[in-house]
Amino acid sequence: MSLLDIQGLFVHFGGVAAVDNVSFDLREGEILGLIGPNGSGKTTVLNLLSGFLPPHAGHVRMRGEDITGMPPDRLAQRGVLRMFQMTRVFARMSAFDNLLTAGMARGLAESEAGKRAQALVEELTLGPVQYLDAGQLSGGQRKLLEFGMCFIEPPLVAMLDEPFAAVHPVMREVMANFIRSRHAQGHTFLLVSHDMPIIVDLCQRAVCMNAGRVIAAGDIHSVLQSHDVIEAYLGNSDTGPGHEPPSSLEVHPK
Ligand SMILES: Nc1ncnc2c1ncn2[C@@H]1O[C@H](COP(=O)(O)OP(=O)(O)OP(=O)(O)O)[C@@H](O)[C@H]1O
Ligand SMILES: [Mg+2]
Repeated sequence: MSLLDIQGLFVHFGGVAAVDNVSFDLREGEILGLIGPNGSGKTTVLNLLSGFLPPHAGHVRMRGEDITGMPPDRLAQRGVLRMFQMTRVFARMSAFDNLLTAGMARGLAESEAGKRAQALVEELTLGPVQYLDAGQLSGGQRKLLEFGMCFIEPPLVAMLDEPFAAVHPVMREVMANFIRSRHAQGHTFLLVSHDMPIIVDLCQRAVCMNAGRVIAAGDIHSVLQSHDVIEAYLGNSDTGPGHEPPSSLEVHPK
């Protein structure tokens, strides 16, 4: 069953259609990969779905309710949360206090927020740095902290924009395990990543965009093997410079 039903989303910046008639569904409890070369519109789709940008056309329905253009705070109350490509934490507050504040902002009592913050600090291996200002943490540790802030009150759907980019492999594995464990508990994810082995490892299905449009959707392996997808990553005269192709040889099928 669909958690989000996305129909005909369209947004343009001046003459550029950044998201052009995009339709797909996000199913309850799945991890759906959203892939595509640089500039293909993935972050813009997340902006539209999480209310940071209103679409010029199209609809988003959550379990049948029209949530198109709803602002981020109202969507967050309904359990739609996103993480950013650039991490957003309070740099001059300790890592632990960031978690506590995130919990209280989502309506938890301080004692409950504190308990959950402690458990998340341990699960996310942030114990040794929990009392440092978040601004002193490494990029990977800040990403882990943002995971904790997002999940201190688990969302219905978490939208993650490049969470693994430039993160140490050990922390990547902590993140991947965190996503796996929440997925096993039934949580739903929309995951944007250029890291194809991780996408194949975590996602059963994927949507691939190029130049604002959906060019393939479905089972992860069929998407990666699609002629249009390989072509888009290699780049051609219509799409500008490409990106490393998501060769199925690079990935390890489940
Ligand atoms: N605020 C904006 N103003 C003008 N153009 C924008 C804006 N945001 C995005 N764009 C343009 O929209 C297109 C899609 O950008 P977007 O950031 O969604 O791509 P992306 O798939 O997330 O790329 P990447 O993989 O590099 O993060 C690009 O051509 C980009 O330059
Ligand atoms: Mg992006």
